[in-house]
Amino acid sequence: MTAQDTLVLWNRPAAAGYYRMGLACSAGFDNARPGQFVMVRTGNDATPLLRRPFSLLGLIREADRVTGIEILFKVVGKGTRQLSRCRKGDRLSVIGPLGNAFLVPDTCRQLILVAGGVGVPPIRFLAQSLLERKGGLNRCVVFIGGRTREDLVCITEFDLPGFLLDVSTDDGSQGRQGVVTRSLEAALDAGPADLICACGPMGMLKAVSAIAAARSIPCQVSIEAMMACGMGACLGCAVGVNDDDSRYRHVCVDGPVFDAGRLRW
Ligand code: FES
Repeated sequence: MTAQDTLVLWNRPAAAGYYRMGLACSAGFDNARPGQFVMVRTGNDATPLLRRPFSLLGLIREADRVTGIEILFKVVGKGTRQLSRCRKGDRLSVIGPLGNAFLVPDTCRQLILVAGGVGVPPIRFLAQSLLERKGGLNRCVVFIGGRTREDLVCITEFDLPGFLLDVSTDDGSQGRQGVVTRSLEAALDAGPADLICACGPMGMLKAVSAIAAARSIPCQVSIEAMMACGMGACLGCAVGVNDDDSRYRHVCVDGPVFDAGRLRW
């Protein structure tokens, strides 16, 4: 984990209200993994004071060296509005990579990925990283859901060899009409899975967790939390768990990826 000044390489609209930003980093991200996040200072003045957490969307490589990172964000408040105004050549202070990552064992053959709304970044990074893995999966199905087609970002980037993409929107404006978990249940009724990895709104993750538990399928979820420090210092990101020695863990240092069965939903 490093703190560094990064250079904005690009900051492009990705969908209505969404931006993807490339940041050149001097060091520290060679071993960054899907699920990890960065804390970004969104402006050079003191407001907003706190950094904002963003999951890694991917790594930027040049000649096999990691030279930067990419993040995706939705404009939801002052900090992200400031970020949306950044231009190529601006500098932003970044701390990371932080937190843990999804862990897909080598024995996994049938993998399911689920992303809802702004939960796409770590799932996209995970899918890309699985392509580089030796001894591949037999099958990977990616379920992506949003309220409307405007909430579907980066979906063309899941058009990868050996991956099947299944898109749902609540209003039916793209893909199947309905919540993404309905499509997930139908797929699991039709065939087995060794592991589910999911990221998205808590309601979706809770539903995915229940579906996985009912079928005894291991499930890892990346959860969002309000984060002030990102490093275990402020204790502001506590989440309820079923661990023997504690009722709470911190999303920033113990997560953001948890075994779904470990969480108190
Ligand atoms: Fe401060 Fe997690 S964000 S302890």
